[in-house]
Amino acid sequence: MKAMIATKYGSPEVLQLADVEKPTPKADEVLVQVVATAVNQADNHVLSGSLRFSTGIFKPKHPILGSDIAGVVAAVGKDVTQFQVGDAVFGDLSGQGRGGFAEYVAVPEAILVRKPGNLTFPQAAAVPMTAVTALQGLRDKGELQRGERVLINGASGGVGTFAVQIARALGGEVTAVASSQKLDMVRAIGADHVIDYKKEDFTQNGQQYDLIFDTVGNRLVAEYERALVGNGRFVTTTFLPALLWRRGSPKMVNLMAHPDRTDLLYLTQLIEAGRVVPIIDRCYPLAEVPEALRYLGEGHAQGKVIIQIAGH
Ligand SMILES: NC(=O)c1ccc[n+]([C@@H]2O[C@H](COP(=O)([O-])OP(=O)(O)OC[C@H]3O[C@@H](n4cnc5c(N)ncnc54)[C@H](OP(=O)(O)O)[C@@H]3O)[C@@H](O)[C@H]2O)c1
Repeated sequence: MKAMIATKYGSPEVLQLADVEKPTPKADEVLVQVVATAVNQADNHVLSGSLRFSTGIFKPKHPILGSDIAGVVAAVGKDVTQFQVGDAVFGDLSGQGRGGFAEYVAVPEAILVRKPGNLTFPQAAAVPMTAVTALQGLRDKGELQRGERVLINGASGGVGTFAVQIARALGGEVTAVASSQKLDMVRAIGADHVIDYKKEDFTQNGQQYDLIFDTVGNRLVAEYERALVGNGRFVTTTFLPALLWRRGSPKMVNLMAHPDRTDLLYLTQLIEAGRVVPIIDRCYPLAEVPEALRYLGEGHAQGKVIIQIAGH
């Protein structure tokens, strides 16, 4: 089968399209024909070698990157009970060493969920990592309550477009921060208020929020804090070292999201109810994963960047 492999660390150019052996599912595994996958900033982080203490010191121990998959079950191991050949599934492989940038991948059935019927495969591939990150940040770490005012910084990106919609679904009054040309899109997906970050600084305009969900990490902790009410919460998907020692009120934390099948099932319900719709910036073929990662790495994607591997 074809796969995009990383035999060393570096920029996206080190990736090579190669012929590799098609995996055989173990007893508890499902072989998935990958129809679509997404690129995530995490793929760029892994590829750069900045996480080498967990991904392999000298080279990636799992050469096929790609966390999000949506595809069709092609074979099942003998102990698999929930899926049959032909089922449409999706999931996040980042807890399993990844492997999505390939025509097939074998994964434990325990991490897969049936693809929402109202999504295409590319739309489904957009969901797992970034939507679960937004859910865990808003609902779990951010403890968002119905009627609260929530600001999403970086609202037009992969995590941000899900965060706007999930925050609305959880009952928040949403202010979305994005660049000028993306304001209409964030309004269309549910933002009650928008701020153009090129014209207005949300940390300086006197407004305060119960929760700030941040995907950019471009401000000082004290600046974010100024925009929070006294018992507010701040959650960032980036990493702000100053928060490691932070205690007390307002609660301000770095988020480390984790793949969670229960959360993916929860999101499936919101998706099937039409309350969350993946936003796709563009699709690339498997051979152009390096270009997709380069584009994502520029940091201005509108929603998700997808790799379409098979036609369905
Ligand atoms: N902690 C975790 O578990 C976890 C999980 C997933 C992702 N992440 C991290 O979360 C971050 C965001 O991920 P992503 O997938 O959403 O990235 P992304 O798709 O590249 O989106 C980034 C967004 O940031 C916006 N942006 C850039 N500068 C901005 C500014 N000054 N003010 C407001 N918005 C600005 C961009 O919008 P414009 O084009 O409008 O500028 C872009 O849409 C990355 O650092 C990623 O590594 C962490």
